[in-house]
Amino acid sequence: MERAAVHEAATGERSRDPAVPPLKTQSLSGALGLEILDVDLRDKLPPARIAQLREAWHQGLIVLLRDQVLAEEDQVRFAEYFGLPAKTINVHNTGRHPAIMLISNIRQDGKPIGALPDGEMHFHTDQCYIERPAAASMLYAIEVPRAGGNTLFANAYLAYETLPADIKRRIDGRKAINAYDYDNASTFRGTRLREGVPHYAHPVVRTHPATGRKALYVNRLMTIAIEGLPDDESDTLLNLLFEHQEQRRFVYEHVWRVGDLLMWDNRCTLHARTDFAPTERRLMRRIAILGEKPE
Ligand code: SIN
Repeated sequence: MERAAVHEAATGERSRDPAVPPLKTQSLSGALGLEILDVDLRDKLPPARIAQLREAWHQGLIVLLRDQVLAEEDQVRFAEYFGLPAKTINVHNTGRHPAIMLISNIRQDGKPIGALPDGEMHFHTDQCYIERPAAASMLYAIEVPRAGGNTLFANAYLAYETLPADIKRRIDGRKAINAYDYDNASTFRGTRLREGVPHYAHPVVRTHPATGRKALYVNRLMTIAIEGLPDDESDTLLNLLFEHQEQRRFVYEHVWRVGDLLMWDNRCTLHARTDFAPTERRLMRRIAILGEKPE
């Protein structure tokens, strides 16, 4: 599916339907991000519009559509324009569509109704601890805090491209182990890799299958070690890479409004979350899209 889309994006064939006017977009920041204007996702979109959205997404790395009023099936249909929605393995789905998961700090009988309920989160990319991590993820904002709970997105292409040549040489061809300890370190970096925690080694630098660009594919929350390096050297190198990729010049900070639908590309971005008061309600509806094995 991705390959077909690459072809469409490269040739512009399907996006050049004269009945479909050009997409209106505006940049979200100097680092990354495009806002798509005048598209209502309750409508079923024609193929040429979908091709335009895919092009905009590859160009912007994240796309934002504001003021959407979306039922679950509208959000699932939007996800399907980009690939196959992944079934959630988490308990925090809504019980209706298997791909929908809630991210929320709202509690019923003392238990959060969603995953990743509280506060700040370190930078990460979704599912980098499995063989085929999610290509994309999206959040639809239903309730948002009055302050904080912003999501930060970093451009992983720029992070790679701006590395000094000697660091590029040191990471070239290397793999890193990514792990996710959901029970003990779901929002902040853990201190050790516990037995039984899902983990997978992926290239430190991956090539995006649609754009052909290289992106730095490590992150503070989940990347544990660079394979084949002594622990000290791996820790030092990883810290250097984390500090580099999280620089503000590579980051767009999204302040949520109710009705925002924001989709990011996990293959060329990483994301984090700022703190927010536990007394504020935050409710997001999330869908992830199946990805390929990073190369
Ligand atoms: C996530 O990492 O998937 C959640 C981000 C957020 O809650 O802003």
